[in-house]
Amino acid sequence: MASISFLASPNYVSHSIKASSKSFDHLKDGFSFGNNNFPGRNSWGDPQELTIANVTSQASVISRPSLGKEVVSQPNHVAWMSVRQHRWEGELVVKGEIPLWLNGIYLRNGPGLWHVGDYNFRHLFDGYATLVKLQFENGQLVAGHRQIESEAYKAAMKSNKVCYREFSEVPKADNFLSYVGELASLFSGASLTDNANTGVIRLGDGRVVCLTETQKGSIMIDPTTLETLGKFEYTDSLGGLIHSAHPIVTDTEFLTLLPDLINPGYLVVRMEPGSNERKVIGRVNCRGGPAPGWVHSFPVTEHYVVVPEMPLRYCAQNLLRAEPTPLYKFEWHPDSKGFMHIMCKASGKIVASVEVPLYVTFHFINAYEETDEDGRVVAVIADCCEHNADTTILEKLRLQNLRSFAGQDVLPDARWSGGS
Ligand SMILES: [Fe+2]
Repeated sequence: MASISFLASPNYVSHSIKASSKSFDHLKDGFSFGNNNFPGRNSWGDPQELTIANVTSQASVISRPSLGKEVVSQPNHVAWMSVRQHRWEGELVVKGEIPLWLNGIYLRNGPGLWHVGDYNFRHLFDGYATLVKLQFENGQLVAGHRQIESEAYKAAMKSNKVCYREFSEVPKADNFLSYVGELASLFSGASLTDNANTGVIRLGDGRVVCLTETQKGSIMIDPTTLETLGKFEYTDSLGGLIHSAHPIVTDTEFLTLLPDLINPGYLVVRMEPGSNERKVIGRVNCRGGPAPGWVHSFPVTEHYVVVPEMPLRYCAQNLLRAEPTPLYKFEWHPDSKGFMHIMCKASGKIVASVEVPLYVTFHFINAYEETDEDGRVVAVIADCCEHNADTTILEKLRLQNLRSFAGQDVLPDARWSGGS
């Protein structure tokens, strides 16, 4: 197995990224290849491990944070610690040889800054988004990271406090009137975060967008400089506040789900390259529960969109709470059961709606169709990482738990699960 280990000093970069040829499809999602003649997965050549151990020159620190001290129980851990600089770029020393055909930029984003001033965030998902790049060019490798300049991030840096509703953090009201004002703005979505910390996609037209679960948190970036270019504005009138954090994006389309919290269900929508207008393919009405199930991600096959309806459902009341509940913005409704709906991409018709065992999943891995000898589709298989219908995984992703790692896995086991 060929692999590339990125091991820059934690003084400069606080992320560790490891990629292998076996996970090439996952890698490709984040790459922006300048060369379309990219060889297949068996063409990695020399299986020798490459190690990038340090920067070649003095790191070009572009701005240092003026942040307070982050209090952690295990200060030696690099993982789950805030980035040391808001912006950094530097060429890395390469031991071994990077193939000359490997040209392009690999982008990832995720939470990377978990404190404002002296206040420490509590949950992994609250961190302000850090965009990370690995830029391969003619055998050289330049790494860099930069904070995504969302309104939530900029306001926090300016006022030294949380100003928007994050996954579990809420702004602390100065007085009763500001509390009432904050509640009012919640209903309009104005106080929801736009912290785009869950994914980065390249649309078919080349625009690169960072995303989170709020629609307002769709932010365009420059993949080379990592500069925040501005908000990605959806020009349709579909409304709503949230969407799936992980749309399915190809060269020809962008597919996502818009949960309907008023009339429990989901709109399945498509957007074409060059457009900012989403068009409805169809709608799924929920079969159970008072609200749609959480759709962090969803799978798609060649002809179908799979719409998961988890018994872990959105909860408007929990959105209003000043302090997070163990399930944050969600509620567990086992009586409402769990379902998978299969929608035809071409017609928008629901061709199957199947009750499935109770499940909790964040990420679908893959989906495909099975056909009989006449080519007719007889099954749709969707693979996901399933947490044994145990919602405590949300609590286990608190930073205190993650930072308590001392050689033993601090997260409960998940299982690979497939269905038809
Ligand atoms: Fe995710």
